[in-house]
Amino acid sequence: MPDRPRILVTRRIPDAGLSAVRDAADVDLWDEELPPPREALLERVRGIDGLLSLLTDRVDAELLDAAGPALRVVSNYAVGYDNIDLAACRERGVAVGNTPGVLTETTADLAFALLMAVARRLPESSDFVREDRWQTWGPMTLLGKDVHGATLGIVGFGRIGREVARRAQGFGMRTLYHGRTRAPAEVEAELGATRAPFEDLLAASDFVSLHTTLNDETHHLIDGRALARMKAGAILINTSRGGVVDQVALADALRSGHLFGAGLDVTEPEPMRADDPLLALPNCLVVPHVASASERTRDRMAQKAAANLLAGLRGEPLPDPV
Ligand code: DGY
Repeated sequence: MPDRPRILVTRRIPDAGLSAVRDAADVDLWDEELPPPREALLERVRGIDGLLSLLTDRVDAELLDAAGPALRVVSNYAVGYDNIDLAACRERGVAVGNTPGVLTETTADLAFALLMAVARRLPESSDFVREDRWQTWGPMTLLGKDVHGATLGIVGFGRIGREVARRAQGFGMRTLYHGRTRAPAEVEAELGATRAPFEDLLAASDFVSLHTTLNDETHHLIDGRALARMKAGAILINTSRGGVVDQVALADALRSGHLFGAGLDVTEPEPMRADDPLLALPNCLVVPHVASASERTRDRMAQKAAANLLAGLRGEPLPDPV
């Protein structure tokens, strides 16, 4: 690799990874709260050897061409990579890496936190106290849904989906899953999970939690028809990608009361604006794509992203190639 390769890092990431990159390369850091606007990104990538990108940066043919032939590696600071045109990278011989594994449990924790918060109406309950509406103990006040003993349907049974299943065991839930392939029998046995056709899972689950990648097949997988198929009074949780859910149809299902509630860590688009119709619904809890946002996990993501980047610059196989 060149003595001091040129790297663009599109946002400040934890020092746990950034300092390793700074040690090995000349780093142009976009040190702003907001992502670089497209024009700035196209300008700043010119002549770089490596790019450390975030899920907020679209890495496509236009960007790769703007970068030019020196670019050897794109290291995405995320496990998801739907922001990257893999075919365009492949055509240009640019290696792509991501950060799987280290955020699995943290993301599963957040999925479960959303599930519990929506089931037991925590945001509404908190507002109830803050707004001084708490007058007495009420036999009918803020009644929610039981988590224990309920049926959980997990759509996408990769690392994160499986960790959600593990958490569900602690609550004595019955777990169904739907995935492209069947999980090994020992995984099913360990997690107490049963594979089910998508339609059956929707119809049988009290909670549906989404853990699939976003692609042409899964875009709006949860549309009006799928929502109608869900049990009356069910709860939808999405920590995958916003595009997996048709939000207009979801708002209808929440407004009509067909769904009891929804918990979303991801939206389409991101950020969701405060005037979005979903935010007018008290049974919809939205948090700003924070599933992997724990201090330790973000450090570990930074280390992985740095390791991919540096391996790519050296022309070595990436530890976590996409
Ligand atoms: C990822 O890594 O893809 C997550 O969505 C970030 O929280």
